[in-house]
Amino acid sequence: MVTLHASPPVSAAPEPTVATCDLPIGVFDSGVGGLTVLRALRETLPHESFIYLGDTARLPYGTKSPESVVRYATQCAATLVASGIKALVIACNTAASAALPALQARYPLLPIVGVVEPGAAAALAATRSQRIAVIATEGTVRAGAYRRAIARLNPQAVVTETPCQVFVALAEEGWTQGPIVDLIIRQYLQGVFSEDPAPDTLLLGCTHFPVLSAALRAALPDPVAIVDSAQTTALAVASRLQLEDLLKSPSRPAGVVQFLATDGAARFARVGSIFLGAPLLEAAVAVVDV
Ligand code: DGL
Repeated sequence: MVTLHASPPVSAAPEPTVATCDLPIGVFDSGVGGLTVLRALRETLPHESFIYLGDTARLPYGTKSPESVVRYATQCAATLVASGIKALVIACNTAASAALPALQARYPLLPIVGVVEPGAAAALAATRSQRIAVIATEGTVRAGAYRRAIARLNPQAVVTETPCQVFVALAEEGWTQGPIVDLIIRQYLQGVFSEDPAPDTLLLGCTHFPVLSAALRAALPDPVAIVDSAQTTALAVASRLQLEDLLKSPSRPAGVVQFLATDGAARFARVGSIFLGAPLLEAAVAVVDV
């Protein structure tokens, strides 16, 4: 269990109860990948505070059974809920694919947003031909999460899903460019764009993949658009908070971010700064057990 707020001094007058609007938003992923979503959330909702949890001790989720992923996601959510949050963002496609209904059933009053539906919406907004290639973890592809989410929004869309699990390891290693990255990308994407007609949109269905965007761009035919779910997820969270009257007032102090990881603060900070696009110090990362 994590103590997130210092206890009040014994002699102090009782603190006024923190208004729900002022509580942070909980965000979790298997590792640093969800920081790409956190980055968009902070840009979209600069007044809000966040608690980010990376389950680095158990990464990757993408190769695990759905039962294990549901268990891990439930434990991550429970840790964040116990800290006091007003909303939860599942910034991991694998966890959202496997565990969104279970978490919604467990916390019926908590607004919970996963990244899959917003990602599907982003891909459909980008495609002109309604042909979309999704790359994701083995777990997300096995769950068929994007195929279903896209079909719900546009049954005419043609979707191919390709598991690219090694991309997670590349991203966690901070290997975002270079000859090895190029080779691996070409190996995985072989054939994905050779159909006729070929997809015109590549959806990054894993929050670890946006850091590989430049290398992916170089490997793709020119007209292919690359999209991810970060921005549309941030917008979905903003509109959900607005709907539930949970947005923090801009007159309140600026938002802060608290970083938790289940293992390896130094590594989380070093690689995480690439995903966050801002320096992240080891001292700012608390290692917790979930
Ligand atoms: N970042 C995660 C996702 O969006 C999962 C990576 C992994 O743990 O395999 O699916």
